[in-house]
Amino acid sequence: MTEKMIVNPYQVEGEVDYQRLVKEFGLQEITPEILEKIKQITKGLHPMLKRKIFFAHRDLNWVLDEYLKGNKFFLYTGCGPSGPIHLGHALVWYFTKYLQDTFDVELYFQFTDDEKFLYKDKPYEEIQKWVYENMLDVIAIGFDPKKTFFIVDTKHAGLLYPEAIKVAKKLTFSTVKSSFGFTDSNNVGSIFYTSMQAVPSFLPSVLKKKNIPCLIPHAIDQDNHFRITRDILPKLGFYKPASIQCSFLPPLTGAFGKMSSTGEAKGIFMTDSPKEIKDKINKYAFSGGQPTLEEHREKGGNTEIDIPFQYLKYLFEEDDEKLAEIEKDYSSGKMLTGEIKKYLIDKITAFLLAHQERRKDAHKKIDDFLLKV
Ligand code: TRP
Repeated sequence: MTEKMIVNPYQVEGEVDYQRLVKEFGLQEITPEILEKIKQITKGLHPMLKRKIFFAHRDLNWVLDEYLKGNKFFLYTGCGPSGPIHLGHALVWYFTKYLQDTFDVELYFQFTDDEKFLYKDKPYEEIQKWVYENMLDVIAIGFDPKKTFFIVDTKHAGLLYPEAIKVAKKLTFSTVKSSFGFTDSNNVGSIFYTSMQAVPSFLPSVLKKKNIPCLIPHAIDQDNHFRITRDILPKLGFYKPASIQCSFLPPLTGAFGKMSSTGEAKGIFMTDSPKEIKDKINKYAFSGGQPTLEEHREKGGNTEIDIPFQYLKYLFEEDDEKLAEIEKDYSSGKMLTGEIKKYLIDKITAFLLAHQERRKDAHKKIDDFLLKV
């Protein structure tokens, strides 16, 4: 309990204890009752729900009840454009696409170029390049262009700013400071920024002139922003946004923490070639297998810490029976480290080749996706 753990939008450090975060952040766990309710509505359950990759929420029950009464919610998620998209980002968005498809709802997707400019040591022009590149990946996920609306903070500033100042007026520096761990030397833009991330959670209500429930799928590190948002929105006459949180796809080098686009063993990017995928996994993927063949056959591998197994569980083996078989064979020693790695490499390669195919003509669709009012 005393171990150092920091989880906020701008820093993730230490071994992430998700149960502890649920308590500290005041989240609700996703219970069997909620899963049952989702199952009734959608006639099935996404593997990321069954496997508790998405494991916590706020007000999900309420959003589902409203939905059952015929009052649809909209989805809101986003991307901080400062580098290439990796599998950890894509995980949330593929799940968001599932929500959009099964509930047949609108999605507001925010690109926070202001945020990345303010927080990263990168020029504005470079951030703009990433807005463009990242949009291609978001489009390649396969969202419905008729029901998906891209918001770019600096480009939609005229729409966002009047709403952001209403949030900002209710938010003190001391709240922001303690929530994000800021000091007096943070730049003033970063202090204001969370007001911008709050806006899409009520912008559709402003535009359509009626209160509409919002559901935000996001990785757990973004929760700070939305705790603040939830405190303020009722003061402005809007519903608190509901949310559903996932744990981080672990980095290649170990089962705890978060995949990132920097560091020695970089994440796996959406644009990686089959050779890069293979090399990264063979070189870096942390193995739960035993050091020698004899030992492995005798004791078996540890799936809890084995990165290839964890990746299959998170995203790449959707078939529950197949996953259970791999778990059994790998932990009994029947399946070898080289074999599970090879299996994962083939899965990721197929997944990314299909993504890259859709990405090719995505540039033609950007305009269809941009929010126009
Ligand atoms: N701040 C997020 C990031 O750095 C981007 C983002 C904006 C977001 N709005 C969001 C993420 C809503 C999840 C949900 O990646």
